[in-house]
Amino acid sequence: MLNDKVDFCRQIIIRAGELVMQGFGQVRAVQMKGRQDYLTEFDGRCETFLRQAISEAYPNDGFFGEEGGGSDAATLWVVDPIDGTANFARNIPHFCIAIAYVENGRAEFGAIYNPVLRELHFAQRGHGATLNEQPIHISDVTAAEAATVELGWSSRIEKHDYLGVMNGLLEFGFNVRRAGSGALGLAYVADGRNEAYVERHMNSWDCMAGLLMVEEAGGRVCSFEGREKILRGGPVLACVPDLAEPISDIMGIPLAASREETR
Ligand code: IPD
Ligand code: CA
Repeated sequence: MLNDKVDFCRQIIIRAGELVMQGFGQVRAVQMKGRQDYLTEFDGRCETFLRQAISEAYPNDGFFGEEGGGSDAATLWVVDPIDGTANFARNIPHFCIAIAYVENGRAEFGAIYNPVLRELHFAQRGHGATLNEQPIHISDVTAAEAATVELGWSSRIEKHDYLGVMNGLLEFGFNVRRAGSGALGLAYVADGRNEAYVERHMNSWDCMAGLLMVEEAGGRVCSFEGREKILRGGPVLACVPDLAEPISDIMGIPLAASREETR
């Protein structure tokens, strides 16, 4: 059953990407859900497509999406129809669709697809992580002076909090950047393009697929499991193991036990 769902997920995320590409470069009307929080017609269309496809294929599973919400369930699809909507709306080709399949509060597999670059990052618990079906691994950079940390931002976080952690990261010697899609930022830790992704608050649809991807690619992450995190979100940290402790201290985000420790 899980393998069927894995294959299904790989197929529908590509189809969702085709749908979103109909709007790329064509966005004229943008609504604001809040301060710096964008919504386009294609966020809603893509989520409706995924909600219908999943409920037809797996009527007993729950669905929780960025635009239409949902509720927790023992088997649950957590979906961001477009992550990086501000980029999408400005014709910047850095956005994606993110899907996590969650059982009893824990992600079992996750997919992140950038339809412009046709890059599909995928991970299944215990089976590693891939980019377009090729195995990926975290970066081997170990020195802060050579490392890039992507620091996510949203208007959910107070300015002094954001500036405080950015200051701490810069003081420690990291390059700090923000590219505007948290899900892709996490996928880029899994494939070695970032050494870390951190954010003081993320929603489950933005991060559950990517956190599993980083773990499966050999990185360290914070814990992000259970009903409360799925419904309300929480802090996020994903990074290469050698830099995990300083980044965890600077961010004030505890690390989950490593895979070795839990074996
Ligand atoms: C946002 C982006 C952003 C991250 C925010 C998210 P959206 O999602 O992923 O990079 O920092 O936490 O809310 O609005 O583009 O779907
Ligand atoms: Ca999002």
